[in-house]
Amino acid sequence: MRYAHIVGWGKHLPSRIMTNDDISKLVETSDAWIRDRTGISERRIAADHESTSTLATQAAIAALDVAGITASQIDLIIVATSTPENFFPSVACMVQDALGAEYAGAFDVSAACSGFVYALATGADAIKAGSANHVLVIGAETTSRILDWTDRNTCVLFGDGAGALVLQASDQPGGVLSQVLRADGSGGDLLYVSANGNGPKAANQKISAGTAAAPTADSHFLRMNGREVYKFATRVIDKTLREVMHRVGWTAGEIDLVVPHQANIRILESAMKSMTIPMDKCVLNLDRYGNTSAASIPIAMTEAAEAGRLLAHHKVLTIGFGGGLTWAAAAIEWGVPKVISKPQRTINRFNTSIAGFKRDARKLFRRTESRVMDTIDSTIGKPADSGSAKSSAKTGVPAEKDLAEGTSEPR
Ligand code: UT7
Repeated sequence: MRYAHIVGWGKHLPSRIMTNDDISKLVETSDAWIRDRTGISERRIAADHESTSTLATQAAIAALDVAGITASQIDLIIVATSTPENFFPSVACMVQDALGAEYAGAFDVSAACSGFVYALATGADAIKAGSANHVLVIGAETTSRILDWTDRNTCVLFGDGAGALVLQASDQPGGVLSQVLRADGSGGDLLYVSANGNGPKAANQKISAGTAAAPTADSHFLRMNGREVYKFATRVIDKTLREVMHRVGWTAGEIDLVVPHQANIRILESAMKSMTIPMDKCVLNLDRYGNTSAASIPIAMTEAAEAGRLLAHHKVLTIGFGGGLTWAAAAIEWGVPKVISKPQRTINRFNTSIAGFKRDARKLFRRTESRVMDTIDSTIGKPADSGSAKSSAKTGVPAEKDLAEGTSEPR
């Protein structure tokens, strides 16, 4: 039987700190209100040169270092994020490139603040099914870039950061033992960012900038009905943690640590109370980082591991909840720590440091290969452009020209 153990962890937080007092200069709020209602004192804000993928990459490098493996050993990279740089390529592909993880598949998971547990479950299942031996699971966000800094209902809550875990296959029982993933799309309007603009479109609508389908500045902002999300969160945490505990046969009294999504201290206090788990078994960092969405759980887990709060065979619960609506919990039996020799660690670090050269080499190879193919095509007389309009007539797929002129009937 295969098990998925957590063998590496890492985090990366931007260095810029924004305090509650700083925010009270932007909107009508106060340090006292934010602390009392949320438990947050300060948060980190990404610098201009940072992005979700750069934060994710730094967290990943730290996690690989702890795991004592090289990027070439990773089979799969999953990034949970709601703030990707692009629709595609995914943040996971950007991390794959930055790490030089040449044998890894890579994709993003979009499940808002539950995203990390969704990603963890997916990675663990890939290992248990035998399709991967090492999975890098990352939660990374630059939520500050989608906040409306004039909306006090949301801008006081969120922060930027990234956390990463390395999952490794093992025949030793333990690791990610079970998970519960849930969603309720009927509550999608309680917490959302609608920026994509790819909703249902009128039959004759053109796909081009400036149409009704194009995103507006306002649609890029995160919007939340805080009170309703609060009620939803307090409703699902207790129920879902009990469900996942039941699946692995654990009782509340046996739990060593809970690593929850860091949204609001009052939500977590109420959930721990109804679970009869003391608050000192709940990992907290929202006072320092605010709500870092999909990144909050791996950051908290990394801090717990670094502080020696996660020991071999500890029974650990984790739970995420947020937009979608989505929520998800996992039961984890913490593994036995690996001993990595100093020379091995040095070799691994060297391998990581040459990722940039590998990337440049791959780009050069692709460019050279493309030129060679072009030369061969022109030598054997193949037309340079086989004609998109022509192929569209055959396949029914509208050509770019048709779309721009609005001449193609939507199917
Ligand atoms: O990560 C995804 C999951 N997200 C969550 O779990 C967030 C869940 N929701 C919450 O954490 C809380 O609902 C909030 C922290 C967002 C808000 O706390 P609340 O105790 O639910 O406040 P409220 O929205 O009921 O507002 C209470 C009052 C209102 O004034 P009135 O109508 O009573 O006069 C708000 O206008 O507080 C006012 N208010 C503020 N005052 C100062 C709202 N935001 C602020 C603010 N500063 N930033």
